[in-house]
Amino acid sequence: MEKLVITGGTPLKGSVRISGAKNATLPAMAATILSEGEHIIKNVPLLRDVFTMGRLLEHLGMKCSLENSKMIITNKGLRNLEAPYELVRTMRASILVLGPMLARYGHAKVSLPGGCAIGARPVNLHLMGLEKMGAHIELEQGYIKATARRLHGAHIYFDIPTVTGTENLMMAASLAKGVTRIENAAREPEVTDLAHMMNRMGARISGAGESIITIEGVDELSPIEHSVIPDRIETGTFIVAAGITGGDIEIMDAKPEHLDAIITKLQETGIECEQTSKGLRVRARKQLKSRDLKTMPYPGFPTDMQAQFMALMCIAEGTSVIRETIFENRFMHVAELKRMGADITIEGSTATVRGVKHLKGAPVMATDLRASASLVLAGLAAEGNTVVDRIYHLDRGYEALDKKLKNLGAQIERIKT
Ligand code: EPZ
Repeated sequence: MEKLVITGGTPLKGSVRISGAKNATLPAMAATILSEGEHIIKNVPLLRDVFTMGRLLEHLGMKCSLENSKMIITNKGLRNLEAPYELVRTMRASILVLGPMLARYGHAKVSLPGGCAIGARPVNLHLMGLEKMGAHIELEQGYIKATARRLHGAHIYFDIPTVTGTENLMMAASLAKGVTRIENAAREPEVTDLAHMMNRMGARISGAGESIITIEGVDELSPIEHSVIPDRIETGTFIVAAGITGGDIEIMDAKPEHLDAIITKLQETGIECEQTSKGLRVRARKQLKSRDLKTMPYPGFPTDMQAQFMALMCIAEGTSVIRETIFENRFMHVAELKRMGADITIEGSTATVRGVKHLKGAPVMATDLRASASLVLAGLAAEGNTVVDRIYHLDRGYEALDKKLKNLGAQIERIKT
């Protein structure tokens, strides 16, 4: 088990380079199932979920190797069409192999991902879409068993713009017979990045990034070399890190056009954020102000930045009302922030944060990926020492966050216990 020990109070200074997006890398890796040959995925972040997806693809019969941030995936055809529970339960995004396996091989057996700390995380919309495309789906002993002679085009409407649901069905539809139309599709940049990659593999996808995506099925796709987009959530996390410590940093390789809602909201609190030739210059030179927040599907403010924003509001001037509309249990960081002296009350899916002068360092426990980031951010601002336990949650979604923060002057140490 590892912990992070943070001594707060140091304004961050210097420059940091943003890694590739975890949530673009995982679907890109799954998409290599769609075509035999050697695929190269660049700008891959070195973090646990990527390693887990690599292990899953190898379990299916592919070969994955990493040279720094370049991943080479060799697909000589799958020898196994089952994604087992012991792998899927460690990473829900494993569900992304369902669509491509079914489209390419007509069979797939994938463990139901089950819930996680932040919510029940159902996949009913993924399955509804595949059934509309002609798949026969059975749920048996915790597994999804799907078969289809050949998937056909369909008109699919999502009650909720599910990100991995959109990605799964885009991949399934790329090899189906006929045209598939997904309405109320997720518009996240990671969905658009996947569509770009697949179109260069020979797919015919239009409308990605909008609410209606049209996929014209083709008979086969070709292997590809693709570089994934930078991680907008990591970028937002560093903007908050500069804000919460009163720092002045330069964030390299960020893609500001993916962060409109994040940057706009954080500027409203008083954080200065300006585009430079290399990315973003972020400064916080005055007392930050409280602002309300409501998480929304893209292009709204992302749920994956809610916990980090809440940490910032803990020491802002005034009161912030934060509404989480995407997941039913994404306030696990609140109890831990309160151990550090934060003044937060929860009413259903709304948290009210009254800013305090200072947070106080304390031993706290990470519960999920973004909650962990929130506790690290609070520790950077708190008086005294904060010890964040169970940081394997953090390592799932951030590449060397502690090292990057240390390079910006943070007093942060990773200790093994
Ligand atoms: C993706 O998860 C991201 N993960 C999540 O990031 C992110 O929080 C989420 O999108 C929302 O932006 C990856 O891309 C790998 P959803 P996903 O399906 O696709 C409901 C992180 O921190 N829903 O868009 O699983 C669901 O319960 C992770 O990096 C159904 O009801 O999320 C939720 O309330 C956490 N039925 C809402 O939709 C379904 O079939 C949005 O979920 C699917 C989803």
